[in-house]
Amino acid sequence: MSKRIDVKDLNVYYGNFLAVQDVNINIEPRSVTAFIGPSGCGKSTFLRTLNRMHEVLPGARVEGEVLLDGENLYGPGVDPVTVRSHVGMVFQRPNPFPTMSIRDNVLAGVKLNNKRISKADADDLVERSLTGANLWKEVRDRLDKPGSGLSGGQQQRLCIARAIAVSPEVILMDEPCSALDPISTLAIEDLIEELKSDYTVVIVTHNMQQAARVSDKTAFFNIAGTGQPGRLIEYADTPVIFSNPAEKATEDYVSGRFG
Ligand SMILES: Nc1ncnc2c1ncn2[C@@H]1O[C@H](COP(=O)(O)OP(=O)(O)OP(=O)(O)O)[C@@H](O)[C@H]1O
Ligand SMILES: [Mg+2]
Repeated sequence: MSKRIDVKDLNVYYGNFLAVQDVNINIEPRSVTAFIGPSGCGKSTFLRTLNRMHEVLPGARVEGEVLLDGENLYGPGVDPVTVRSHVGMVFQRPNPFPTMSIRDNVLAGVKLNNKRISKADADDLVERSLTGANLWKEVRDRLDKPGSGLSGGQQQRLCIARAIAVSPEVILMDEPCSALDPISTLAIEDLIEELKSDYTVVIVTHNMQQAARVSDKTAFFNIAGTGQPGRLIEYADTPVIFSNPAEKATEDYVSGRFG
């Protein structure tokens, strides 16, 4: 299920603006990779290129390759909708469909992919996805109630269940805990630890402790100044990034001297 990601010579543009320049990175399956760096350095922009969400904005485009187990997501004839069913995404603010029931929220992605499933298979998928997102026990008695009736942390786990339900190989998370309290944050961090046995997980975070706690590898991005493109400065095992980085800019950032 879990797949590797190899990014080659990737440039990311908004119109004429080069937002992220020349990224080369290899992300192993069954691992958690954290993207860190100061605001505006392109973490979200780069993350969105990994499931072709970047190009939904007018004028937005990429150069280079993103390979999923060797297959270029940007190759001719590749359908972006199919790509997004292999590479799921969870956003900063929990965004369940508010009027939809918990059950229908979990199934929303599956229906979007035009998959027809029987009631029994749907029930099974809802239970498995919610169990995988560590939410089943809390909601099994109210599956037909609206998703908006859950706490923020529960809503975020519901969004993770929705992402898992389409059986992706990769899960991208852009600051998934930034709107959550510390207890919900720990629940999501525990869940990320579990998800990595089945998926390739990439998480953007501003929380250094979180990056240190949940990730196997960390990528530090930086910008030289306003209007300059973001670049990948250093990518290594997480303990190395936090205790013995090769680059001075990395050390300054992780020690809080900058950013
Ligand atoms: N929709 C957009 N149109 C034009 N420029 C954009 C757009 N989104 C982001 N940018 C620009 O691209 C650059 C990178 O932004 P991005 O949001 O990827 O940074 P980030 O590292 O995720 O920052 P933060 O930590 O604040 O979330 C910034 O200069 C930003 O202004
Ligand atoms: Mg961002």
